Amino acid sequence: MQSKMVLIAACLAGSALCTAGSAQEADIGATLYADHCAACHGATGMGDGDMADVVNVPSPNLTLLAKNNSGVFPMLNVLHVIDGRSGLRAHGGTMPVWGRVFSDEIGDTAGPYGSVLEVRGRVLSLAKYLESIQQ
Ligand code: HEC
Repeated sequence: MQSKMVLIAACLAGSALCTAGSAQEADIGATLYADHCAACHGATGMGDGDMADVVNVPSPNLTLLAKNNSGVFPMLNVLHVIDGRSGLRAHGGTMPVWGRVFSDEIGDTAGPYGSVLEVRGRVLSLAKYLESIQQ
């Protein structure tokens, strides 16, 4: 927990430490992705998960986010869409509101501010992972 907070602070300060931590960040993101996202978006992010047919809105291919945004990965937008609590959704809002799901899951096990930081860490790890799988 402590090291994740230092890493996030380093990233915000634009430090080289952030780059050093990116691989680790992507690993955590990959695990979270496999557990929570692959069912709809597919194991490799192509939008072809088993549950994609069950939900009424197609699950987007998440490897094209940069390509669809003039070659730039839309980090801030992705963070907001994954968290979901800002009201900024891609379309209809079929995607679970992960900020709330993670927050409920963590509860108060991490102390009064711990869950806020843990949720941000998970959302950031997921976004870093998605950035790493862009075509
Ligand atoms: C129940 C199926 C489902 C699951 C599980 C799911 N998503 Fe989604 N996701 C969608 C759908 C459907 C959309 C299209 C927008 C909407 O309807 O909310 C979407 C949209 C997105 C977008 C925006 C894509 C774009 O083109 O702008 C991102 C980013 C995303 N999901 C990431 C994730 C991540 C990360 C997870 C796991 C933590 C996840 N999704 C889990 C169904 C799902």
